[in-house]
Amino acid sequence: MNSYKIAAVPGDGIGKEVIAAGVEVLQALAERDGGFKLDFESFDWGSDYYKKHGIMMPEDGRETLKKFDAIYFGAVGAPDVPDHITLWGLRLAICQPFDQYANVRPTRILPGIQGPLRNVEAKDLDWVIVRENSEGEYAGQGGRSHRGFPEEVATEVTIFTRAGVTRIMRFAFELASSRPRKLLTVVTKSNAQRHGMVMWDEIAAEVAQDYPDVTWDKMLVDAMTMRMTLKPQTLDTIVATNLHADILSDLAAALAGSLGIAPTANLNPERHFPSMFEPIHGSAFDITGKGIANPVGTFWTATMMLEHLGEKPAAERLMRAIERVTADPSLHTPDLGGQATTRQVTDAVIAAIQGDNA
Ligand code: IPM
Ligand code: MG
Repeated sequence: MNSYKIAAVPGDGIGKEVIAAGVEVLQALAERDGGFKLDFESFDWGSDYYKKHGIMMPEDGRETLKKFDAIYFGAVGAPDVPDHITLWGLRLAICQPFDQYANVRPTRILPGIQGPLRNVEAKDLDWVIVRENSEGEYAGQGGRSHRGFPEEVATEVTIFTRAGVTRIMRFAFELASSRPRKLLTVVTKSNAQRHGMVMWDEIAAEVAQDYPDVTWDKMLVDAMTMRMTLKPQTLDTIVATNLHADILSDLAAALAGSLGIAPTANLNPERHFPSMFEPIHGSAFDITGKGIANPVGTFWTATMMLEHLGEKPAAERLMRAIERVTADPSLHTPDLGGQATTRQVTDAVIAAIQGDNA
């Protein structure tokens, strides 16, 4: 029997609630399947850890994580710790050294969920955003001089490398070619940003030569927000820089009905390091501890984790269970306009897994 070691890092805020729910659901799934085992170990890293130890995770945290097959991550961010500390101290401290350069963000309108767009049905919105996850605007280059003086200077340098852009472009073309519509949109801002973004466009055209089956086009990121909103059915796979895709994926989540259902995978496609799976929503301190966080994003990302581990039938079973539950409005959490609790949604998904006979 296949057995996988999973590191659970719930982190901050509702991260703790949704990862607990996700672990329960995954254990029920493994039991129902019978063909694989999941061995979870949980780590209490995050803002509470920072307040005690002055660091978000231990110095040897990454060494510890290396032994795992995957990382199941909740959220980081606390009202009383600056965001750049929590982000760079934990999430980016894992993503970047583990070279999880492909961030994959599927978006669909799940059954039973009402998106905010008039005349847009589930069949009109089925996207995967591929976010470059290792460089670009998140490269961490820059600095500040003359702090506090009127002449203070700050730079925030965006880095694009040929190697970095080529590998994400290949990943995106590959993914597009594996999807039925074989359609890819390359997002840049090469009218205003005339160096790095022009290189993106050039590399896209080069890589496209190896994928004659994929139809592709280019969009400027500002115009892309309009196309996503007004003509969602013209899009399928989308590739963009770290920051552009960060912004577009929030828009995508909103157009699909709620940030609470949106999943993401931070992949190291070569598997030199473990990949990391998380909901997009973040720590949501306004609802922390109320038991009403939507666990669906955390369940959906678990399907991506199972696929990455090679357990496709289990991933499909979990997705069917999620969709059966979202189809019932009495099982919607408040972010979807309902009154259900995390507990109720989790129990319903577990029941759907146990009752799934496919
Ligand atoms: C995301 C988030 C993060 C990001 C935040 C928490 C720093 O918005 O995963 O989309 O910008 O990468
Ligand atoms: Mg974001």
